[in-house]
Amino acid sequence: MNLRIQSFTEYQQQYAKSVESPESFWSGIAEQFDWHKKWDKVLDWNFNDPSINWFSGAQLNITENLLDRHLKDRGDQVAFYWEPNEPSEEAKTITYRELYQEVCKLSNGMRSLGVGKGDRVCIYMPMVLESIVSILACARIGAVHSIVFAGFSATALADRINDAQAKLVITADGLNRGTKRVELKSMVDTALENCASAEHCIVLDCVHSQPAMKPGRDIDYHELIKDQSADCTAEVMNAEDLLFILYTSGSTGKPKGVVHTCGGYMVYTTYSFQNVFQYQEGDVFWCTADIGWITGHSYIVYGPLLSGATSVVFEGIPTYPDCGRFWEVCEKYKVNQFYTAPTAIRALMGEGLEVVNRSDLSSLKVIGSVGEPINEEAWIWYHENIGKKNCPVVDTWWQTETGGIMLSGLGDLSPMNPTHAGYPLPGIQPVLLDAEGKEIEENEVEGYLCVKFPWPSAIRTTYGDHDRCKNTYFSNYPGYYFTGDGAKRDSAGMYRIIGRVDDVINVSGHRFGTAEIEDAINTNEYAIESAVVGYPHDVKGQGIYAYVVVDPAKFEKEDLVKTSLIDSVSESIGRIAKPDKIQLVAGLPKTRSGKIMRRILRKIAEGEIQNFGDTSTLLDPSVVETIVQNAVK
Ligand code: WTA
Repeated sequence: MNLRIQSFTEYQQQYAKSVESPESFWSGIAEQFDWHKKWDKVLDWNFNDPSINWFSGAQLNITENLLDRHLKDRGDQVAFYWEPNEPSEEAKTITYRELYQEVCKLSNGMRSLGVGKGDRVCIYMPMVLESIVSILACARIGAVHSIVFAGFSATALADRINDAQAKLVITADGLNRGTKRVELKSMVDTALENCASAEHCIVLDCVHSQPAMKPGRDIDYHELIKDQSADCTAEVMNAEDLLFILYTSGSTGKPKGVVHTCGGYMVYTTYSFQNVFQYQEGDVFWCTADIGWITGHSYIVYGPLLSGATSVVFEGIPTYPDCGRFWEVCEKYKVNQFYTAPTAIRALMGEGLEVVNRSDLSSLKVIGSVGEPINEEAWIWYHENIGKKNCPVVDTWWQTETGGIMLSGLGDLSPMNPTHAGYPLPGIQPVLLDAEGKEIEENEVEGYLCVKFPWPSAIRTTYGDHDRCKNTYFSNYPGYYFTGDGAKRDSAGMYRIIGRVDDVINVSGHRFGTAEIEDAINTNEYAIESAVVGYPHDVKGQGIYAYVVVDPAKFEKEDLVKTSLIDSVSESIGRIAKPDKIQLVAGLPKTRSGKIMRRILRKIAEGEIQNFGDTSTLLDPSVVETIVQNAVK
């Protein structure tokens, strides 16, 4: 199926059509997929409830579109090249036919455990091919997958299993990332002590650590699939049935389960994949994200497979065994489209060009960026040294909630402007709103980035709590989807993302709510109260700065307290959320009504020592002075 736009003029035409007659625009694209039954209505929506229904009445199974459909013409084509963490270990390939068979076997295995349509399955896995097989096996039998990034702690995993009431967990004994080993199964064991819903746990042997298996609950992955048939009838799903839940952080409370559904997500990930990356038959695509994040869902698994693409899946990290690894892998598989995060680019930039120039990068045609704003220096370095000035940089802005890329250039078709994500994809109607909720018409004025019309892969609800979805995304500006980002538009109509306008911080492209990290800190025995803010970090984009009020009577050594605070965050969320800087303080700056003045704390974390703006509502100004004096550099 070829959905690729081939010129900027064609983009403009498609865009205009998508706004004038969205239903006929999207049905024209949806027609090209395999459906058991076509839709009664293309779109039915309101942003107030919110209620968003695409292709109502249609029936399909997404795996028939990404596996069965390809068997005839590309059964022997490589679906994935798998590159191990350890370069000396053997790489693997899997063809579309082999992937189909593996998915069917596991689907049958899961059905034999009593898992079926609508059941939730939690996947907590390394970057191995069996993880992708697990995802697709869920989709084949109509089970709803909820992938938890394998860097989250046992507590965070348990929270997610419980919130989704997952019946099954799929994991591995452990994983290797660079020189680090993570014992996943023991984390799962700890989590499952507090998860009554999970009846079974499928365990894949990845690192041969032979973990203890709990009889009746734990099943070896290969034992389970060993005698299963390599064919499996796909469950027929309604277009709006749940495909997956993915937990993500917001400003308040615990992470919420963003829900995506089968039909619209299928259509939009395919369309955006082919257009943004200008993927063509025979190309090799590589997205370096982890499958635990939305980027991995949409652009390692669904978009590429639905398009019949060949992709690389990488188990390791960019800096192991050294900082040339990404470029070596690009050369090894003759990668044509490469998609990574600014944090990785900034980390590798610092390592000099020798490691880059070791590899032949001439196969590259398009290079992409995702997850956080890319600063101009990193953009230029990427364009000049990786793309050799020949490859367009696609700076793709989107979110877990949007399901697919919303703002981006389309390969080499669109004009580029460093640090600007660019134009909306066809079907996407962004607006900038001012504080009163009025649409900003002028250029170069910063506003709240919102979307005024539904697109097929929009968030449908937050699992188990529809009000939360409404309150978080559809209530601030009634009639609009609110992204949480601030942005500007230039005179050419290109968007530039400024960053989050809420209490969400973006550390190396990973999203955390400051409240979530504060809650983790507050579980610590020394902590009385805390306030967490983000500050600009050269490599990570944002770093985490924690101000913690501790009881001086309780401790002697500051270092020990700090280590213990970090341990608390690692236990509650995972090491990925540990503060970069911790300042122990006697008190936090508060207003007379008791509200923490985060604005001041943000400024101090940024290195500002005066100009705190209006401080007249501060209860005790001396608190600020003391914090400034002892700020962590
Ligand atoms: C940020 C990741 C600037 C943004 C796909 C958004 C970006 C949040 C970009 C979503 C970009 C993502 N330029 N900022 N190209 N891409 N962001 O849910 O703040 O993990 O709201 O989805 O990342 O992060 P999430």
